[in-house]
Amino acid sequence: MCGHWPWKHRGSWLPGAEDGKVIEKNVDPETMLLPYLRKKLRLTGTKYGCGTGGCGACTVMISRYNPTIKRISHHAANACLIPICSLYGAAVTTIEGIGSTKTRIHPVQERIAKCHGTQCGFCTPGMVMSIYTLLRNHPEPSLEQLTDALGGNLCRCTGYRPIIDACKTFCKTSGCCQSRENGVCYLDQEINELPELEEVNKISLKLFSEEEFLPLDPTQELIFPPELMIMAEKQPQRTRIFGGDRMTWISPTTLTALLEAKFKYPQAPVVMGNTSVGPEMKLKGVFHPVIISPDGIEELNFANCSHNELTLGAGLSLTQVKYILGEVIQNLPEEKTRMYRALLKHLRTLAGSQIRNMASLGGHIVSRHLDSDLNPLLAVGNCTLNLLSKKGKRQVPLNEEFLRRSPSADLKPEEILISVKIPHSRKWEFVSGFRQAQRQQNALAVVNSGMRVFFGEGGDIIRELSISYGGVGPTTVCAKNSCRKLIGRPWNEEMLDVACRLVLDEVTLPGSAPGGRVEFKRTLIVSFLFKFYLEVLQILKRMDPVRSPGLADKYESALEDLHSGHHCSTLKYENVDSKNLPQDPIGQPIMHLSGIKHATGEAIYCDDMPTVDQELFLSFVTSSRAHAKIVSIDLSEALSLPGVVDIVTEEHLRGVNSFCILSEPEKLLRTEEVSCVGQLVCAVIAESEVQAKQAAKRVKVVYQDLQPLILTIEEAIQHNSFFEPERKLEYGNVDEAFKVVDHILEGEIHIGGQEHFYMETQSMLVVPKGEDQEIDVYVSTQFPKYIQDIVASTLKLPANKVMCHVKRVGGAFGGKTYKTGIMAAITAFAANKHGRAVRCILERGEDMLITGGRHPYLGKYKAGFMNDGRILALDMQHYSNGGASLDESLLVIEMGLLKMENAYKFPNLRCRAWACRTNLPSNTALRGFGFPQAGLITESCITEVAARCGLAPEKVRMINMYKEIDQTPYKQEINAKNLIQCWKECMDMSSYSLRKAAVEKFNSENYWKKKGLAVVPLKFPVGLGSVAAGQVVSHELRMPISNIHLRGTSTETVPNTNISGGSVVADLNGLAVKDACQTLLKRLEPIISKNPQGTWKDWAQAAFDESISLSATGYFRGYESNMSWETGEGHPFEYFVYGAACSEVEIDCLTGAHKNIRTDVVMDVGCSINPALDIGQIEGAFIQGMGLYTIEELHYSPQGVLYTRGPNQYKIPAICDIPTELHISLLPPSQSSNTLYSSKGLGESGIFLGCSMFFAIHDAVNAARQERGLFGPLKLNSPLTPEKIRMACEDKFTKMIPKDKPGSYVPWNVPI
Ligand SMILES: Cc1cc2nc3c(=O)[nH]c(=O)nc-3n(C[C@H](O)[C@H](O)[C@H](O)COP(=O)(O)OP(=O)(O)OC[C@H]3O[C@@H](n4cnc5c(N)ncnc54)[C@H](O)[C@@H]3O)c2cc1C
Ligand code: FES
Ligand code: FES
Repeated sequence: MCGHWPWKHRGSWLPGAEDGKVIEKNVDPETMLLPYLRKKLRLTGTKYGCGTGGCGACTVMISRYNPTIKRISHHAANACLIPICSLYGAAVTTIEGIGSTKTRIHPVQERIAKCHGTQCGFCTPGMVMSIYTLLRNHPEPSLEQLTDALGGNLCRCTGYRPIIDACKTFCKTSGCCQSRENGVCYLDQEINELPELEEVNKISLKLFSEEEFLPLDPTQELIFPPELMIMAEKQPQRTRIFGGDRMTWISPTTLTALLEAKFKYPQAPVVMGNTSVGPEMKLKGVFHPVIISPDGIEELNFANCSHNELTLGAGLSLTQVKYILGEVIQNLPEEKTRMYRALLKHLRTLAGSQIRNMASLGGHIVSRHLDSDLNPLLAVGNCTLNLLSKKGKRQVPLNEEFLRRSPSADLKPEEILISVKIPHSRKWEFVSGFRQAQRQQNALAVVNSGMRVFFGEGGDIIRELSISYGGVGPTTVCAKNSCRKLIGRPWNEEMLDVACRLVLDEVTLPGSAPGGRVEFKRTLIVSFLFKFYLEVLQILKRMDPVRSPGLADKYESALEDLHSGHHCSTLKYENVDSKNLPQDPIGQPIMHLSGIKHATGEAIYCDDMPTVDQELFLSFVTSSRAHAKIVSIDLSEALSLPGVVDIVTEEHLRGVNSFCILSEPEKLLRTEEVSCVGQLVCAVIAESEVQAKQAAKRVKVVYQDLQPLILTIEEAIQHNSFFEPERKLEYGNVDEAFKVVDHILEGEIHIGGQEHFYMETQSMLVVPKGEDQEIDVYVSTQFPKYIQDIVASTLKLPANKVMCHVKRVGGAFGGKTYKTGIMAAITAFAANKHGRAVRCILERGEDMLITGGRHPYLGKYKAGFMNDGRILALDMQHYSNGGASLDESLLVIEMGLLKMENAYKFPNLRCRAWACRTNLPSNTALRGFGFPQAGLITESCITEVAARCGLAPEKVRMINMYKEIDQTPYKQEINAKNLIQCWKECMDMSSYSLRKAAVEKFNSENYWKKKGLAVVPLKFPVGLGSVAAGQVVSHELRMPISNIHLRGTSTETVPNTNISGGSVVADLNGLAVKDACQTLLKRLEPIISKNPQGTWKDWAQAAFDESISLSATGYFRGYESNMSWETGEGHPFEYFVYGAACSEVEIDCLTGAHKNIRTDVVMDVGCSINPALDIGQIEGAFIQGMGLYTIEELHYSPQGVLYTRGPNQYKIPAICDIPTELHISLLPPSQSSNTLYSSKGLGESGIFLGCSMFFAIHDAVNAARQERGLFGPLKLNSPLTPEKIRMACEDKFTKMIPKDKPGSYVPWNVPI
């Protein structure tokens, strides 16, 4: 069988096809649109970020024409989950189709670039396509529509603010934040204490100018291909069948044909959105030989609202359901719509918009996921499922039996779900839905719930009650018995108390329940019940104020949503000195030089490079045990598979299987013993990616477990398992100081690790040149020189035969250095051995499993302090979880030590640090390099000191802060003038005292919601961003920036580059560029002085005529630094970056949810070379820091297997997490003699400022605890997730839940 499959790709020219038209005659049903676009059509603008619908990098626009209603619809969708067979008759618009530098760029592309919405640019095409699709449907969208449209797109670099700014320019009132209900805009000068008019010439508040933007003209957009319209109108409705090697795809277009197909293939899934079947096939290896995918069947795509009920077709997408519910709510009386409102509330946060556009209601109901948001609601709502098969119609209730797949209540294999009937709610009937997830939006719920009660006319006696929960069992669980026992009881506190106990008895979770967080889940079960109780009580009171007791005002906060509002931001920086030449770009907010190419998808990343002739693909086999002997490796089955060319093992690498990373040799491949899950065992090389991956799964490795298995820091301490050497920093006389202080406290804090989550996974392509053993390595790395060395060593070649090229990197944050080198070396070995190009691109799950991340830390402290808060003695111990090999762990603990005092002068200090050797993937560098952990330990200690002294934390921070000229613990001089200035400005800008009073007032009036406010200072030493290299060249050569073109780096052009990391990229590269420009200028001086009015073209010609070289290399060897660990003294850093941040949060004490209401950041950046870039770095790092301290959480099994291996399990901040209000201000420029144009490197420091959120939450939790009479010390570990917040806000519900005795069960996960 073969399918004839016309569909349209927009705006790209394909050889042999009419413009943009793709006719694919050999459709493989297993192929998804993303690889098809990227590999087959060579349209690489659409990116791979995760392959499971969770990141939005692959967003495209799908347009369809409905001949019945004669309407064209457009929706954004994730190409990674769209089977190409499902696209028959659809028009697919990719980033290439909407604009390019070769034709015309689209206003969305222009604005996202010019508003600085791109940094690495990898997420940008997906962002652009989401906005573009929104504008096709709503040319003047509201801000809510914009943030909703971007809810499924992740960006790891920008912090989202500039992307929102770009989007806002399409809104009706784009200059305004649209925030204030009273019509006053946040950008109002007085309200935000923005500078007075006379300052305006100096102070800038904008980073782009809207005036220069192309207008959005909807009439200029591509039209829907007329031939597809004609085809839809004219073509007879016939079932389409596509046959692949292993799978057959049947697409019936009529209901009869669908029933026929299902009768014939009862086991075949009915694929609608493929958002459930797709990930299952990809991640769990489920295979379906036949797939049935109905297309455009009207009977599945309808909505009917009658007098008593709403019937929704099973084929409607969740977006359509959302829209229909919105309409129904508008048109029916409130009392009839309570179920619809509850459903709508959940639909707003369910997944991202792309998934909601694809996923169907039927698919959602039938897949019966344990964390389904809609099923718990539908299950309490007396809903009915209308089923149909060839044998006839049937109705089954959507109840617990159906959800449990009980055979008597389930669909029969040949049946199709046609529609679901949802009754309107009745007058005395109330329905609510609740959910809590790790992140507020686009995250599966930890627990969700649907609840319904019916009282019968006028009373408060329960006549009907239904309660169901998701996330607490293998599928939705109903508390049927509890509900039955509560019938006949009045709706009062006594009933609530009984209800909680009954439900906790009925809905039980074993201590070892999958997903962990067992006590949190139990607490949510009763917290939601309490919320429902209050909600109903409040409505009853409203309906009958005389009979119902109602709520005390302060308890009403349990029902209110967390603070929400539209995003608003202000930025403040000082304009560049007017003495500069007009064309001089230094100090200007110049757009990223690749910004437009990022936005058009023309920027080429490693895997976007075209296939090389005879290219092979490499896939790694990784260890599945954390500490084990390898007994045997059987390659025979894998080698026998079609397409498999070779399997590289340690045997092949004999003699070159290890390379010295920093001080310790590291093995490339393992064959004797493995010391963590995810270590590389061997590498399969095959003709195609699919073949390599399939074969890798067939390599059989037999292990014998070894003892001990060390996963946690505590276990490492117990087994004395450390890397050498221990590091120590000592200043003053700690022991003596402890004798004179008023108080001593001891405490500890645990800080969880963090995944880099760069959007572009590890990628490399190695091409043997075929001559003189030369080899080209194209790789996404921060350290080309290292890659060159390790490849050369592995191939036993001189380094000059190995060329390492880096065009651009789709995010790295420290994660693309040493591990990348190991993988590149093995890939190069395979390429060299076979004389063929080899590509290796990690999937997201592999990447997260193999590469490690930020070190988890345990910090112990003993502080001696006076009554006024002065800390005179501090003794600390830092333990980091280094993982299985040393990697950069020693450097990380050293940097942690050298930066641990943050902004404070501790006159007597001792701090020791150890890197623990454990059986986890080795941890490595990640933005901030030890400082985010070390700084948090210190700040936690200070917070505790303040609590002990009964002082405000900000007072204790201030009293211990460095005073102007001072000395660090390693005896380097420091001038902290700008630190104090940042602190003061931050206190002023945030109106700290006023807002603190407002927070206290709020807290006294609200029992279940609390606010918190915290300010932290920052001192970040730099010494060891996309550099504004173009700006440096332009400035030095006095040439317009438009004349400058930057190319990727390569070891061919720069043979011995340093690593790009540690905040010094701009410094190192910028100073090297400056050096090269000055060399050139010196050579050209005689020519220029002969013809001073000439152009660069004239001078270049003259240089040619006079045989003067126009190529120059600049070099900057880095700053002089020294540090002696023997004496504890040195000058390890060149300068210090200062800053301060103040954050305000609101928490929900019943669920643990939090919202960042406002953040103010003040930074000292010296003289900013590019304020847009600097502000972008500050914001991006701040949001990453916020993720580190409040959201991002890695889960490991007790056997050391990482569970969190993709965006669906590991949550990085999304657009919903950014502060509602964000204000950033840069201190006025200050001169420093030795840095590039007096600028400062900012790449890393902002991460730490994210901990202002941690301490604001701490403050809020503290307020809750104090109100509940809990005055003891508050110990909170990082990240402060909803689980930790909820469990710290102890109350009668946390006391009510059953607790398992430690040791009586095997937990699902081990806290690392
Ligand atoms: C990234 C991501 C995020 C998500 N986030 C959330 C979230 O926050 N909350 C939440 O609740 N869910 C979430 N989901 C799950 C999502 O809601 C479901 O995957 C989706 O609703 C399934 O619909 P579908 O049309 O894609 O199903 P498909 O994958 O097409 O099909 C699923 C199953 O349903 C069966 N089926 C479909 N239609 C019929 C029919 N008419 N008759 C009989 N059988 C049928 C199929 O046989 C198949 O077994 C998320 C999913 C992804 C990928
Ligand atoms: S690659 Fe498709 S959503 Fe991530
Ligand atoms: S710019 Fe968004 S991921 Fe890098």
